[in-house]
Amino acid sequence: MYVLPELPYAHDALEPVVSAETLRTHHGKHHKAYVDKTNELSAKAGLAGRPLEEVVREARRTGDQKLFNNSGQAWNHAFFWECMTPDYQPPSGELAQAIDRAFGGLAGLKEAFVTEGVNHFASGWAWLLAGADGLKVTSYHDGDSPIVHEDGVPLLVCDVWEHAYYLDYKNDRKGFIERWFDQAVNWAFVEAQLTAANGQGQPFRYPAPERDAPSGGAGAAPSAPR
Ligand code: FE2
Repeated sequence: MYVLPELPYAHDALEPVVSAETLRTHHGKHHKAYVDKTNELSAKAGLAGRPLEEVVREARRTGDQKLFNNSGQAWNHAFFWECMTPDYQPPSGELAQAIDRAFGGLAGLKEAFVTEGVNHFASGWAWLLAGADGLKVTSYHDGDSPIVHEDGVPLLVCDVWEHAYYLDYKNDRKGFIERWFDQAVNWAFVEAQLTAANGQGQPFRYPAPERDAPSGGAGAAPSAPR
């Protein structure tokens, strides 16, 4: 079964950019619900035990929209938690150079990223990708995920669903993304993703599914073969 990954920081660690209440609800309620539903639907689809990345791609291939939405959301949220840190440091080295080439600097990337997130209609995710021609910004709707597209390796994401910011920012999505970009982005994670995109090391993967704990006792169903 797929686990809800633990947050890499305390619930209140990202305040005031993201409140403890928002983070607790977002992780413990919203993300958990997507993981729970993914466990239910992946078992029905005969995909339980497969890496989550494979589930997302297989759900897309077969047109299983419910499983695609839920597994995509489970993956996107796990990636999103890694994109934030309470110990903000600006981008440096190879990443800073790639940002300069594509956007003329961090301010240019911020403008492109915030504009993408603000203009994204309704629910979805704003992404920074490492494409074949360098870095680029895009967005996908609902639970759609960059791992099923050929646009590039995901480096950074901001959740622009209202549940990500409404408690703290009400309808001010722009205010949320600007502050998030300036104070909460984990550029070290972004750089590690870029390094992986360039062929060194592995990009982010969702935690491997855990085997169901044996329930034991008379009448217990045998484990499914793996
Ligand atoms: Fe979310």
